[in-house]
Amino acid sequence: MAGVIADAKLQALINRLQAQSQAQEAETGGFFAERARKMELSWDGFDEASHRYLADKLVALEPDKAEFCHLMCRALRATRVVEVGTSHGVSTLYLADAVRANGGGVVIATEYEPAKAAIARANFAEAGLERFIDLREGDLRETLKVIEGPVDFVLMDIWVEMARPAIELIGPRLRPGAVIVADNTVSVAKGYGAFFDYVRDPANGLTSMTLPFAGGLELVVKG
Ligand SMILES: C[S@@+](CC[C@H](N)C(=O)[O-])C[C@H]1O[C@@H](n2cnc3c(N)ncnc32)[C@H](O)[C@@H]1O
Repeated sequence: MAGVIADAKLQALINRLQAQSQAQEAETGGFFAERARKMELSWDGFDEASHRYLADKLVALEPDKAEFCHLMCRALRATRVVEVGTSHGVSTLYLADAVRANGGGVVIATEYEPAKAAIARANFAEAGLERFIDLREGDLRETLKVIEGPVDFVLMDIWVEMARPAIELIGPRLRPGAVIVADNTVSVAKGYGAFFDYVRDPANGLTSMTLPFAGGLELVVKG
């Protein structure tokens, strides 16, 4: 079955990056399992050791979820997308390809590890998609303070403690019918508590359901 990416060169780049990410997954799973066994993890957020460990890991969104996001962007005719958590930019490539297919626009991407941001920029250039990506380097609590127009689609693929600060900044910019997709809302449900408090607050006009992707993928719609 053909995938959603029509550009064969882009798909080859994505395949290479996905393979790199998947090769790191077993080691990353082992690192966190061992820390959980030693009761060293907290739902309040990653500590210094976890941040250090993850500083050079891709942790890319799985291909099926990324393709789903691409199709959502196409269905919405999205021209302004916010990606919360960019890493080496794998999911960004899917989102930017969808925006290009929609006739142009911008993916506002966010990454606070300088080394990851540099690799992401190189990947965007290799894909020929950099003109559709506004990569904001630094802590998203600062870099998302200004969003220059209505947002059509949001991918929330971030350390969970950042989901609430991110949605507080982006929520007021969502256009009616906008969609947020949030990753791993079942597997890290405890960490998503503050995010769901925001989603379920009637004042914010959002409705959501959990889709049966691995780890749970939340689909949130702005009414
Ligand atoms: C799960 S990874 C993103 C993977 C990416 N969406 C992909 O599919 O390739 C989450 C990223 O968010 C970054 N991050 C975590 N906290 C952040 C913050 N406060 N501001 C900006 N970036 C942050 C991490 O460095 C990490 O690279």
